[in-house]
Amino acid sequence: MKKMKGCVLVALLVVLFLSVGVQSQLSTDFYSSSCPNVFKVVRREVFKAMKNEMRMGGSLLRLHFHDCFVNGCDGSILLDGSDGEKFAAPNLNSARGFDVVDTIKTAVENECNGTVSCADILAIAARDSVVLSGGNSWKVLLGRRDGLVSNQSGANSGLPSPFDPINTIISKFNNVGLNTTDVVSLSGGHTIGRSRCALFSNRLFNFSGTGAADTTMDTDMLAELQTLCPQNGDGNVTAALDRNSTNVFDNHYFKNLLNNKGLLSSDQGLFSSDDGIAATKTLVQSYSSNSNLFMNDFVSSMIKMGNISPLTGSDGEIRKNCRVVN
Ligand code: HEM
Ligand SMILES: *[C@@H]1O[C@H](CO)[C@@H](O)[C@H](O)[C@H]1NC(C)=O
Ligand SMILES: *[C@@H]1O[C@H](CO)[C@@H](O)[C@H](O)[C@H]1NC(C)=O
Ligand SMILES: *[C@@H]1O[C@H](CO)[C@@H](O)[C@H](O)[C@H]1NC(C)=O
Ligand SMILES: *[C@@H]1O[C@H](CO)[C@@H](O)[C@H](O)[C@H]1NC(C)=O
Ligand SMILES: *[C@@H]1O[C@H](CO)[C@@H](O)[C@H](O)[C@H]1NC(C)=O
Ligand SMILES: *[C@@H]1O[C@H](CO)[C@@H](O)[C@H](O)[C@H]1NC(C)=O
Repeated sequence: MKKMKGCVLVALLVVLFLSVGVQSQLSTDFYSSSCPNVFKVVRREVFKAMKNEMRMGGSLLRLHFHDCFVNGCDGSILLDGSDGEKFAAPNLNSARGFDVVDTIKTAVENECNGTVSCADILAIAARDSVVLSGGNSWKVLLGRRDGLVSNQSGANSGLPSPFDPINTIISKFNNVGLNTTDVVSLSGGHTIGRSRCALFSNRLFNFSGTGAADTTMDTDMLAELQTLCPQNGDGNVTAALDRNSTNVFDNHYFKNLLNNKGLLSSDQGLFSSDDGIAATKTLVQSYSSNSNLFMNDFVSSMIKMGNISPLTGSDGEIRKNCRVVN
């Protein structure tokens, strides 16, 4: 009898251990029985949104990145409220696509309500955006749950700024478990999408108080951008991050850097900065000449980024509306 009890206890402990082990991990088939059509539904909605505006692919990719860097990939960037992440400096008047996420969530809820988290929707939408722009596909790991708080100070301190030196950007990636390879491959996300003048006009007229433009910018490109973004002009006007193939997910972002045609200081700095970052320069060169290497590394880094501190098991919740906690 005593032996019997011992066996049951051991069995229980094994089950407990296994379930904890499973819960702490994401899996590609998480919704295979609870919402088998989730991929079809999300892809259809991302396709519609990009058909309406190609740039939306970039905007959705960036939302997943800005979500994952703050309290992990937990949908926290989607929560409304002036004290939340939406109003943090890197996101205010900058992060976009929230209406599209609402549309996707409504479509997913109609398919299988109360099942798919907003954090997972962002991860799937980011993948679909890359694929529909011409990039390589990957199997998205799923099973994230939605967070209960939106962390504005975390967004202000954790998200990289285009004005940060490359070393600071590398530190911010290291803080969430990403390394220098991830910095360079994921910066390749700038092969699609746009940036507002306010984020690069510091390079155009009086760079770092030198009285002249950034010398690591191609002169034709400089002249064009000086016209687009005059001093005291509208900082919300936008330019393509990859001026060669704006809406196509390819390795031209890296070729641009070799030609002094990076838009943000943090883009060009990966190749040109002299603060001792030989590693980023070498990677930029490799990606510029080897598209497959870039695509494969980008996929690996996206999966790594998607694994940042997910809420699993019974932590967090499955939000009904991505903008508010239940
Ligand atoms: C390495 C550090 C990074 C910095 C400093 C940075 C900075 C920026 C800035 C300043 C913008 C323009 C925002 C605006 O106009 O308001 C932008 C846009 C964008 N970023 Fe990044 N970013 C970084 C990394 C990433 C990563 C890791 C991804 C995704 C893998 C990404 C994807 C994008 C995309 C797609 C856009 C265009 C968004 C749109 O058109 O709506 N960025 N980024
Ligand atoms: C799902 O929908 C059913 C019927 O419309 C409703 O009764 C139920 O409360 C919903 N569940 C969740 C978790 O939203
Ligand atoms: C917000 O983010 C910071 C930096 O990562 C972290 O130290 C803090 O605990 C977070 N706050 C909340 C409420 O999650
Ligand atoms: C970054 O991590 C990946 C594995 O996730 C590894 O293959 C790569 O070599 C690392 N890069 C650097 C610069 O440490
Ligand atoms: C450039 O900026 C510095 C300080 O940031 C300022 O002292 C200088 O007057 C500026 N030069 C020009 C030409 O505007
Ligand atoms: C951009 O537009 C927003 C809202 O329309 C405005 O509040 C903000 O000041 C503008 N930003 C810049 C840099 O001009
Ligand atoms: C893009 O770059 C290629 C060379 O790699 C060049 O032939 C082409 O004209 C460029 N396209 C644009 C729109 O700049």
